[in-house]
Amino acid sequence: MSTSYSEIILWLSYIIGSVSFIVGLKMLSHPESARRGNLVAAAGMTLAIVATLFFYRTPEGEHLRNIPLILAAMALGSFLGTQGALRVKMTAMPQMVSLFNGMGGACAAMISLMEYSHNVVNGPLILSTIAAGLIIGGISFSGSLIAFLKLNGNLGDFRYQGQNIVNGLLLILLIALGAWLTFSSFSNLPLLYSIAFLTLLYGVLFVLPIGGADMPVVISLLNSFTGVAAAFGGFLYNNQIMLTGGILVGSAGTILTVLMCKAMNRSLLNVLIGNFGGTNAAQGQAQGAVREIQVSDAAVLLAYSKKVMVVPGYGLAVAQAQHICHELEKILEEKGVEVKYAIHPVAGRMPGHMNVLLAEADVPYTKLLEMEEANSEMPSTDVVVVVGANDVVNPAAKNNPSSPIYGMPILEVEEAQNVIVLKRSMGKGYAGIENELFYSPKTRMLFGDAKDSLQKLLNEIKNL
Ligand code: TAP
Repeated sequence: MSTSYSEIILWLSYIIGSVSFIVGLKMLSHPESARRGNLVAAAGMTLAIVATLFFYRTPEGEHLRNIPLILAAMALGSFLGTQGALRVKMTAMPQMVSLFNGMGGACAAMISLMEYSHNVVNGPLILSTIAAGLIIGGISFSGSLIAFLKLNGNLGDFRYQGQNIVNGLLLILLIALGAWLTFSSFSNLPLLYSIAFLTLLYGVLFVLPIGGADMPVVISLLNSFTGVAAAFGGFLYNNQIMLTGGILVGSAGTILTVLMCKAMNRSLLNVLIGNFGGTNAAQGQAQGAVREIQVSDAAVLLAYSKKVMVVPGYGLAVAQAQHICHELEKILEEKGVEVKYAIHPVAGRMPGHMNVLLAEADVPYTKLLEMEEANSEMPSTDVVVVVGANDVVNPAAKNNPSSPIYGMPILEVEEAQNVIVLKRSMGKGYAGIENELFYSPKTRMLFGDAKDSLQKLLNEIKNL
């Protein structure tokens, strides 16, 4: 059969769409191009959808049916998605991502449910694709919903003795049932629905015990699951763009998961079943006297410095102090002080958390230094201002082999001449351990909410 005009247009649209995904993803890796990258990938996706609606032909040569229904569903989904995205607060972004990801997983699982009956005769390869899409997509769906509820504060951690064994057995059962479905030569709907049910149950049980603060890693992992499940859909439909998109999401999610674990110096297994940051976390043995600094003294120290490095952490997000932090930076620069920001890859609670917050406050991204670069500039820095960061500046990661964060790369702020730490109390960070930096002779503590302290500093510096 000769290749028709429609097929060529569809094929070209899919190629252009796939390239736009890759280019868009590449552009996302830099703050300056990220917004455009998003638009490029979205344009490619739009092209692929429009081309499918108009030029797709079934093997029997028919057009897509139910176009009004498809358009109505797309309009409803687009409306809800846009409203959600426009209204979401920056701090609730992880929840939003989790919810969107869950929808992707649900779509992939639905494809398997819909396609099973008329593919039963097509043999084990197609049936294994259907089983894998259902299981992986279903886990991603229910797991993402639990992650959403946890991040939204609607659900706490839920643990019981032998939980990992139960989860492990359930996973083995799911794989066995998937294999059964793969090799069944007749339609077995009860088996299909049992797998669907157990898959959703597994997603719930898998995410329930994981600590709320570990949710970003879990979401990234579930995101890679959704990608893989979508890729199975692409294979099933022999649809290149779905396959490419799924593989890109799957691999990007996997890489991000690995990078996050590496930056926290933890294995993925430890994240999933380690109960990190809980009450059992090992305590450091930091000792000595803590020295406080008055706002007026801190203001003088900063105003008469040559170079200041701000280290933002989770507390900056809690206090929503990004705007006032930018104000402080501007007034210091007006006084001839060079101000930069040192960004640790896992500062805060989600990938790029600090970059997003600072971008929201219009801090020029040229002022943001990645960890290695920032560390190389520490010795020439007069004052480091730690704003609500704790673990990412904890020297125990370098010099205490018994510390749970030992080996985690950190911002070496103690290499600077002076360190001022802004936090509310001697409270611990995410890892639940003491920080010897706070007891160092170079360090002075400015206690209080980060936003209040920065505001006071700003007022004081203005009056100098
Ligand atoms: P943390 O170690 O969590 O420390 C944050 C500090 O901020 C706390 O010690 C707290 O002390 C202070 N704080 C809280 N609210 C504040 C406020 N309103 N004003 C001033 N200070 C406030 O933060 P970090 O240094 O950014 O480290 C991040 C941690 O999260 C790492 O352990 C990392 O592995 C983990 N983690 C990160 C991610 C990603 S992807 N970023 C994902 C999962 C886990 P006080 O209570 O005394 O104020």
